[in-house]
Amino acid sequence: MKTKVMKAIGSLPEDEEVMKEAGRIIKSGGLVAVPTETVYGLAGNALDPSSSKKIYAAKGRPSDNPLIVHIADIDDLPVIARDIPEKAYSLAETFWPGPLTMVLKKTKAVPPETTGGLDTVAVRMPSDRIAHEFIKLCCPFMAAPSANASGRPSCTKASHVTEDLDGKIELVIDGGEVGIGLESTIVDLTGEKPCLLRPGFISKTDLEKVIGPVDIDPAVYNKNRPDIRPKAPGMKYRHYAPKGQLTIIEGPEENVISYISEECQKAGNKGLKCAVLAVSEDITRYNDILTIDMGSRADLRQISHNLFSALRKCDEEGAQLIFSGSFGSKGLGEAIMNRLLKAAGNRVKKV
Ligand code: TXA
Ligand code: MG
Repeated sequence: MKTKVMKAIGSLPEDEEVMKEAGRIIKSGGLVAVPTETVYGLAGNALDPSSSKKIYAAKGRPSDNPLIVHIADIDDLPVIARDIPEKAYSLAETFWPGPLTMVLKKTKAVPPETTGGLDTVAVRMPSDRIAHEFIKLCCPFMAAPSANASGRPSCTKASHVTEDLDGKIELVIDGGEVGIGLESTIVDLTGEKPCLLRPGFISKTDLEKVIGPVDIDPAVYNKNRPDIRPKAPGMKYRHYAPKGQLTIIEGPEENVISYISEECQKAGNKGLKCAVLAVSEDITRYNDILTIDMGSRADLRQISHNLFSALRKCDEEGAQLIFSGSFGSKGLGEAIMNRLLKAAGNRVKKV
């Protein structure tokens, strides 16, 4: 199959041709990669089991890992979710459209192929204008996992998608770079108390301001406890991984910089190629080492925006050993560290 790439800007009539082509592909059961405000998604019709099967096949994703269903209109929610609690409507009112996914009980309209056999469905309403247009015009119930090959870093621009899925899907809609760069926050509303399953741009505190206390799935923090099974099945897999070995170095800034410098020197002597994911402020402090600029320490939005791109850059550069400092645990730092630790297979060195 030849994968087409078409540019869109998120407004009509300029995008009419793209949307026509995308609509034709979805109708015939094919797959289209679509930008959203978080990461690019690999879209198919969520109500069509064969389309969901194709998504799993294209990504090489285990079929027990359910897909998020994206909508553009709150009136469509009861088509796919039932017994919707009041808290879900409060969250939707505050955070939709936006980077929040809610797990709710599913209706029969959603086939088990889309939910990995679960009786629940994860739902999100994206705010990106191209995603919104696409859902409205082409695919009112858009099943879309992140558009990377399974295990690879998520895609924050169209070229990342073609890197992973060229020849496996019909169309990539190129909307340029996404804004946030990390996948949505996931909150489960099917239990007694709401429970955070995946940290993201919207923090636990943000959620609690609207619906009161929220639990955190213990699997989010107990990274080295294989006995604790995450409630979001996808969180159990190694993820976001660059090809080189990533280690996170934690400690006072001076110690971190000198440890990384020494390790890179030693590795270089052995003929190994190293890369450092560094904040802008520290770039000039690494001499003769390949550094990838993650943005300013003072602005975690820049770091989240650049994270997946930086991990892919390490692969492009052929880095065999990769080092990164830590980004704390407050606000967006929590979501950044969640992805970074996964990418590192939880390899952390304290200095
Ligand atoms: O920002 C995002 O959420 C992006 C964009 C494209 O919307 N999508 C995304 O999808 O990150 P994906 O498939 O890469 O991650 C979805 C996560 C997985 O960990 C999956 O296990 C979990 O959501 N999930 C989906 N349905 C679920 C359900 N019914 N119950 C619990 N977890 C669920
Ligand atoms: Mg993903």
